[in-house]
Amino acid sequence: MAGKNEKPGLSVGLAGVVIAESTISLVDGEAGKLYYRGYRIEDLAQNCSFEEVTYLLLYEKLPNRKELDAFVNELRRRRTLPDHIVKMMKSYAKHMNTMEALRTTVSALAAGDPDASKVSYEDNLQNGIGLIAKFPTIVAYHHRLKQGKSVVQPNSKLGFAANFLYMLTGKVPDEMSVRAMDMDFVLHAEHSFNASTFGVRVTVSTLSDMHSALTTGVGILKGPLHGGAAQEVMHMLREIKTPKNARKYVMDALAKHTLIMGYGHRVYKVYDPRARVLKKTATDLSRIKHNMKYMQIADILEDVMSREKNIYPNVDFYSSIVYHALGLPLELDTPIFAIARSSGWVAHALAQYKNNKLIRPLDRYVGPIDLKFVPIDMRP
Ligand SMILES: CC(C)(COP(=O)(O)OP(=O)(O)OC[C@H]1O[C@@H](n2cnc3c(N)ncnc32)[C@H](O)[C@@H]1OP(=O)(O)O)[C@@H](O)C(=O)NCCC(=O)NCCS
Repeated sequence: MAGKNEKPGLSVGLAGVVIAESTISLVDGEAGKLYYRGYRIEDLAQNCSFEEVTYLLLYEKLPNRKELDAFVNELRRRRTLPDHIVKMMKSYAKHMNTMEALRTTVSALAAGDPDASKVSYEDNLQNGIGLIAKFPTIVAYHHRLKQGKSVVQPNSKLGFAANFLYMLTGKVPDEMSVRAMDMDFVLHAEHSFNASTFGVRVTVSTLSDMHSALTTGVGILKGPLHGGAAQEVMHMLREIKTPKNARKYVMDALAKHTLIMGYGHRVYKVYDPRARVLKKTATDLSRIKHNMKYMQIADILEDVMSREKNIYPNVDFYSSIVYHALGLPLELDTPIFAIARSSGWVAHALAQYKNNKLIRPLDRYVGPIDLKFVPIDMRP
């Protein structure tokens, strides 16, 4: 903090600036560890459903059985989209990609909802839960509508992850696919003050409402520097094609200073703990599908990247192989991230609201001053 007469330092991109205390998640980039509310991500990913982890993020404690059952039921009950929203989605289905449709629909859901603009802590919590419940429905509906198919209504017998897969295809998914999807949602649910979460908190800091905050979150996540890397990984794996091309591909890329997608991280300077968990899931799924090609390529990339650059895979690398093994279309990679991250966004929105101070950084003006004003008709 600058002294009274001292000018504040410049931090482009807010790099290295700490703007709040948080009890939501700890990203320990040096040790390669991630905690949600103090729990190790590995324990949560192995043992919890996305619903359980969402409860943890929103209510700041793990639920007991009764609390979890009630929360699961609430999410199931609030999955459906009003008819006027589905009608509206049909009108833009062909003209938008899924992230554009998600951004527009999250905002539109305020229409006809008398509570949408209320902003007490409890209203924010309730509106947040309603939106988390609806994210998968919006993504699945849009995906089908865009292909000219009819929507598949949510299945009240299925949990969050299973129902999402069901709404995409109309088929009840197998247990292993559900587990993989659930784990992927848990691993993407929260990651401290990343760009979209920061945007959510800026929105809430003006005392704007939860629909506006999550619309901001989706809009920011849409950018390729944030949510788009998993898709890029699959493009790269397809380009590499076979394990025998992998070593040369990486060496050539490094020689040309081209990025290897799904590698490196701004915070983790060691192996991303989420990637470690997902690597096992990607291996298991690939084995079951009798297609180890991408895992063999992955082994070679890890070997070369660790030796040549001391850089390791991030969460997007192995989630892209998981999505491929689950038969999910590439276009859904970023929307799936948004579905998962909606719970972290709501947790941060609540935390911001609880201890609010308007977020308003400064800039350093470097333009001219005292220019002579020239009336419009006298300008060259
Ligand atoms: C995520 C990312 C932006 C982090 O970047 P960063 O912390 O700013 O890292 P730096 O740009 O300081 O990189 C340090 C060095 O590693 C190299 N590097 C970093 N990520 C690399 C990658 N994926 N492939 C090849 N080289 C990489 C940089 O070129 C740089 O090399 P140099 O010192 O010879 O110039 C970067 O690793 C990246 O673009 N990765 C690929 C995209 C991706 O997977 N994004 C999802 C992140 S979850």
